[in-house]
Amino acid sequence: MFRPWEDVELVEPVKLKVASARMLTDAIRELVFIPGEGAKLAGYTPGAHVKFQLSSGERSYSLIDFDEDTGQDGNAEYRFAVQLERQGAGGSGHMHGLAPGDEVLASGPHNDFPLMPGKPALLIAGGIGITPLIGMAAALKRAGTPFRFHYASRSSAAMAYLSELKATFGNQVAFHFDDQPETALDIDGLVASANPDEHVYICGPKGLIEAVKAKAETAGFAPDRVHFELFTSAAQQSGDTEFEVEVKSTGDVFAVPPGKSIIDVLEAAGLDLIHDCRRGDCGICQTDIIEGIPDHRDVVLSDSEKAEGKVMQICVSRAKSARLVLDL
Ligand code: FES
Repeated sequence: MFRPWEDVELVEPVKLKVASARMLTDAIRELVFIPGEGAKLAGYTPGAHVKFQLSSGERSYSLIDFDEDTGQDGNAEYRFAVQLERQGAGGSGHMHGLAPGDEVLASGPHNDFPLMPGKPALLIAGGIGITPLIGMAAALKRAGTPFRFHYASRSSAAMAYLSELKATFGNQVAFHFDDQPETALDIDGLVASANPDEHVYICGPKGLIEAVKAKAETAGFAPDRVHFELFTSAAQQSGDTEFEVEVKSTGDVFAVPPGKSIIDVLEAAGLDLIHDCRRGDCGICQTDIIEGIPDHRDVVLSDSEKAEGKVMQICVSRAKSARLVLDL
């Protein structure tokens, strides 16, 4: 269970052991981990994630907690749901390949997507972006803080935790299915009906985050009332091609092929880079561009910052020019 509003972070990686695994949909697998030998599971706050150290690199997954009061002291287990990204770099495939008893190194929990204590909330999830919002809704419910909870997916079959969400939140959660137009998510209506104290939390694909952010901005929401976490494999799109990255400080040039990010390539070459989410939503990896035209795929930069082309998030963004020269 988590301890609401308490911020506890483990820095050193610990071993997590797979206790159980099951498919929630044809592409989403739930994994429950218990401490590996010598490990202890730290508490966490709603919205937190754990970073797994996989052979394909670090991958972050949000902790899931429906629990309202287990009466347990501390964390007996961590639960995650991982969507298989067939076009991705292998992190989700690794997680789908784990079997009970397997151990993985992980660090955290970390929280870049925290709830604002005591503030009413509008929670909007798209697809696998439901995972951090479950713990948020449970915490809000437990605290008696008003919240609205909306979950959109392609279809009911593609939706993780449909029955658990109904059982836990009843009519406090609304479902929206792309294949049932009468259930369509009404972003305009949700934003227009927000009360002045309500904070908005969005987790899902880039299009959903950008749509809600744009509506909230137009409606006059202060930026600090809109919180978001990107939940897609933004790094790869069909039609991606190889480009070059020149590291200004050394003059070294590296090829970045489709399926690999700039960070993947530069770290493999031994560069020490700062990053966190690796999804394009935290801004930690932002890097100055000296030459070249970026292909922005993050949700951090504003439209005008993207158009200026002076900085980029090197965890997900790519290049429209043959070469980028980066201030590294
Ligand atoms: S690491 Fe978070 S935006 Fe790049």
